[in-house]
Amino acid sequence: MITLGIETSCDETALALIETRRNGNKMGDDDKGGDANSAHGAFECRVISSLVHSQAELHSAYGGVFPTLAKREHGKNLVPLLRKLLDSYPTERQLSAGELDSTLTPFKKELSGPNPDLVESLGVAAASFLSKVPAIDNIAVTEGPGLEPALWVGINFARILGAIWNKPIVPVDHMEGHIVGSLLDTEAPYGTWQKLADIPLPAVGLLVSGGHTELVKISSIGKYEIIGKTKDDAVGEAFDKAARLLGLPYPGGPHISRLSAEASELGLESPVKLPRPMIHSGDLDFSFSGLKTAVLYAVRNNAKPDGSLDDTFKKALAHEFESAAVETLAMKLRSAIDTIDAKTIVVGGGVSANAMLRKELEKIAKEYGLPLYLPSRHVSGDNALMIALAGALDNREYHGHIKAQGTKSL
Ligand code: KG4
Ligand code: ZN
Repeated sequence: MITLGIETSCDETALALIETRRNGNKMGDDDKGGDANSAHGAFECRVISSLVHSQAELHSAYGGVFPTLAKREHGKNLVPLLRKLLDSYPTERQLSAGELDSTLTPFKKELSGPNPDLVESLGVAAASFLSKVPAIDNIAVTEGPGLEPALWVGINFARILGAIWNKPIVPVDHMEGHIVGSLLDTEAPYGTWQKLADIPLPAVGLLVSGGHTELVKISSIGKYEIIGKTKDDAVGEAFDKAARLLGLPYPGGPHISRLSAEASELGLESPVKLPRPMIHSGDLDFSFSGLKTAVLYAVRNNAKPDGSLDDTFKKALAHEFESAAVETLAMKLRSAIDTIDAKTIVVGGGVSANAMLRKELEKIAKEYGLPLYLPSRHVSGDNALMIALAGALDNREYHGHIKAQGTKSL
């Protein structure tokens, strides 16, 4: 099965094309009461192409993602990105100009108000390329969670493509995308068939991004329960806000990380101790807004008369902030492992690129003797590969409890 993935939940416009298959006798093992401990049979995936157009630079002027700008950029980027993705990809059939027009025109009317940039990019130049129906089976699109105006561009784009090409649409949860994305070894060269890791269950998922901080009990692929989440800011958001207070560009995570590593190398000690929020709350929830406020006060109280910060102080505070965030995540992850007696740790989301967090996660995995799945480079940030993958898994007959294909609400 060939799935086109579309992701526009935040500030990355992403498209991917993947092929998936179920391997030999393992097909449907779950239904026959096969390995109950296993997430799925031998499900294999081959990445044909995965493209990500990041808008981070545009948003950096605002110190965070600006939803209307994200929406406009997705509208502009999707068609050119799709053209690039499908360049030299086999065509199934050719639509006549009349066929294309009759389907496209009502969408153009409907969306000229809500998505003018998308409508504009669907103009004459795009028409000939859109009339070539690609040899794909379905279209997976992120339906949430994310920034509402941004999400709708991707959903509307999927609706348009689904209608003109007559392909079913599979709505995908962005966070499920992060989970399944981490189970694939995407460092393998594109085109190589690879198995989705068959993980011992239940697994605990730690999802850490700019919009989310969640602990998830994974009973099977497709069966998730959120067992802990942030009450306010997401951890990535806290990194971004702390970075802004330190005068660092957006997205701030990698910059904080860099300064923090320098502080470690220099053996710098922060004169200010930051809180480790909610570590004694007795539950699996997080709160990062207090940590950000503590950084705000630390910066205010230690700024020079001209408002600037001493370099050494900045590095030491970045290190203290990173340590506080990582220690909090680690502590809650430990509690979650104990609570659900997890057999595997799966980590997803942009913050999982953080080196200090990765080191801590490896330590925890070793200590508990559990397999640890971290996203590889290509899927640690937002991407459509993971969305296509979750969409493809959604269609498996042997996981009938997951949403049916082609949800009408789209
Ligand atoms: O998953 P993602 O790409 O997009 C969202 O869905 O939000 O995550 C982006 C977040 C940003 O807040 C960014 O600062 C953070 O991931 N991030 C990091 C690192 N790299 C990216 N945070 C800490 N350390 C990093 N190395
Ligand atoms: Zn994400």
